[in-house]
Amino acid sequence: MKRDIQVAPSLLSCDFGRMAEDIASLERAGADMLHLDVMDGTFVPNISFGQPVIRAVRALTKLPLDVHMMVQSPERYIDEMAACGADIITVHVEATPHVHRALQRIRENGKIAGVALNPGTQAEALRYLLDEVGLVLVMTVNPGFGGQKMIPAALEKIGAVRAMLDAAGSEALLEVDGGVTAENAQLYTGPGATLLVSGTGVFHAADRAAAIAKMKVRP
Ligand code: DX5
Ligand code: ZN
Repeated sequence: MKRDIQVAPSLLSCDFGRMAEDIASLERAGADMLHLDVMDGTFVPNISFGQPVIRAVRALTKLPLDVHMMVQSPERYIDEMAACGADIITVHVEATPHVHRALQRIRENGKIAGVALNPGTQAEALRYLLDEVGLVLVMTVNPGFGGQKMIPAALEKIGAVRAMLDAAGSEALLEVDGGVTAENAQLYTGPGATLLVSGTGVFHAADRAAAIAKMKVRP
């Protein structure tokens, strides 16, 4: 089945002093949603931003907000992220022994529940979570920093996850995050990704609209 491809620029690469202008430019450029990377300095070796920034972004746009929690024990913050205006909340399978419960909590808040897999994590980790998820995020870099090069082995996992979702009859979004550019997007969409996160690939593009349009070309 041919699915539409959506692009979620990552605000990690924005100019935080000019966030309103950057968000307006992404809206004009055809972004489908905004990706917000919450990092706690423990699950990943970097700290980014949290609730106040998400609330500020919520007030600036009607685009859906895709919150990627790179946070240890993310269940502690799910209700707050929902209250801040997140539409999708994604937790890492590696970040809690109770990922199933965390996904249930996201759904109880009326939000789309996402589960993320680090590059070293097996696709099989999803097996008993599929009934709960509206989004699977395959990390194609080690999380924590923008501007890294995609890890080729992680591309194999996209196809494996696509096969699992299709076999289960799941319509969950298949999101990829890390190293996506207009030039290489089809390496991700070819094996079945439907939602592309891109930080530097959008923000460093000379023409953001052209870069997003090229990422959406179906393979
Ligand atoms: C990395 C983050 C990404 C990051 C992607 O840990 O999850 O969302 O912003 O940046 P690029 O697109 O530059 O690889
Ligand atoms: Zn991310």
